[in-house]
Amino acid sequence: MPITTPAQPLTKFVQSTPQPWHKALAQPAKEFAQTPLKAISGQVPDGLQGTFYQNGTGRLQRGGEPVGHWFDGDGAILRVGLSASGSTATYRYVQTKGYQAESKANKFLYGNYGRRYPGPLWEHIAGLIKGTNIKNSANTSVLALSDKLLALWEAGNPHSLDLETLETLGQESLGWLKPAQPFSAHPLKDPLSKEIYSIGVDSKCNLNIYRCDAACNLIKQTAILLKDVPFIHSFVMAGPYLVFLVSPVKINLLPLLFNQQSYADSIEWKAERGTRIIVVDRESLNVISDGHTDPWFQWHCGNGCVDTDGNIRLDFARFDDFTHINEVLREVAHGSMKTTAYGRLWQLRIDPKTGRVLSNECVVDRDCEFPQVNVAETGQPWQHTYVLMHREGVLTGQDWFGAIGRFEYGSDNLIQADLGEGHYGSEPLPVADCLSPDQGWLLEVVYNALEDRSELWIFNAETLGEPVCRLALPGVIPLNFHGTWQAA
Ligand SMILES: [Fe+2]
Repeated sequence: MPITTPAQPLTKFVQSTPQPWHKALAQPAKEFAQTPLKAISGQVPDGLQGTFYQNGTGRLQRGGEPVGHWFDGDGAILRVGLSASGSTATYRYVQTKGYQAESKANKFLYGNYGRRYPGPLWEHIAGLIKGTNIKNSANTSVLALSDKLLALWEAGNPHSLDLETLETLGQESLGWLKPAQPFSAHPLKDPLSKEIYSIGVDSKCNLNIYRCDAACNLIKQTAILLKDVPFIHSFVMAGPYLVFLVSPVKINLLPLLFNQQSYADSIEWKAERGTRIIVVDRESLNVISDGHTDPWFQWHCGNGCVDTDGNIRLDFARFDDFTHINEVLREVAHGSMKTTAYGRLWQLRIDPKTGRVLSNECVVDRDCEFPQVNVAETGQPWQHTYVLMHREGVLTGQDWFGAIGRFEYGSDNLIQADLGEGHYGSEPLPVADCLSPDQGWLLEVVYNALEDRSELWIFNAETLGEPVCRLALPGVIPLNFHGTWQAA
């Protein structure tokens, strides 16, 4: 049965030395051109044919100075082309204007999420107005279109890259985005209509919602005025609805305006406001209901659907508050996590007509993040949610994630694959087999700290267990954020 967990203890572990996983982040990652991959064990399944892309921070320092927060790093993309006849990998930085300028100067020139603008106040204010005072790091996720790859960063325009070479083609307006207009790092694609939905929270406190066709041409957009400027990092598609879980955070604008604090430091947790739940009609983009419930913070939603009773069911990785997980992510960039902030998978059921919460329960009572489902099930009834999680007995604050899990709704069964001592994971990505519709695979980029190398592991998505194939990657890939799969 699902478990409702009590409030978590919020303590700091004492760490005096960098933890092993940090070797993957400690040095700027090195690019590599397209390189044939060798199998360490097993072989790529015949039906696993396509291209895997993953984005993350390749560089967390400049001129010997560390970034302020993990989110500040420069985006770099891993591309792995998979087929039974031969697989290759490529790794390239996104050549943003900020990356190029800072490379040339060999110092930080911009503010960022965890870093104040380094220049005079008048420059900072002018840049704030134009949206150019912080660097578009293009470091969070990727969206593969038929003719280009988009490197996504939620506070600005995407960057487009060549799908094969990862050459950066430039900042991408898609023909309708204004300069610096935000386009979220977690767009959702309807597997039936192929329409793409994305969002962007702007500095005027608007939640902009974009409905696009399969090529990301705009069909319709709307804006919902929010209170303050909250984080809405991801959202949920549930049948004919979109659902936004708005956690109670507030950006204090005055210290931000006068460059006294970075974004990361100016965000305040306002538990008394509770979490707001906004349900939107997916076709008209009109608000259907707008409710409140108890406070929590989530970066990532898993999936949503409409159940047979007409109510919405969705899942998400829930934290008790924003402050502690934000601190954990700052500490990751500096090599030693001390703060505890436990994420757990929760399932929420709501009445779409009223926004009323029908139930909200913890379904995976293990410290976990990055909930993922098969993309063919996006917005549709689904049974399995995959998560990146800790090995048995390990918690955030002690070590990075070293296991993956598959939770099954109905049986409430959790199966897991322990990556092993000194092996660390990123977001697991379920992908479909192109020859057998009942077969699925799970892609996992693993940093092997024992050998100081990165590997791509392929699991049977149904059984997990031991990987069916391990491919050695040509270089160390830092712990990444999010990826996607483009079938051949
Ligand atoms: Fe994310």
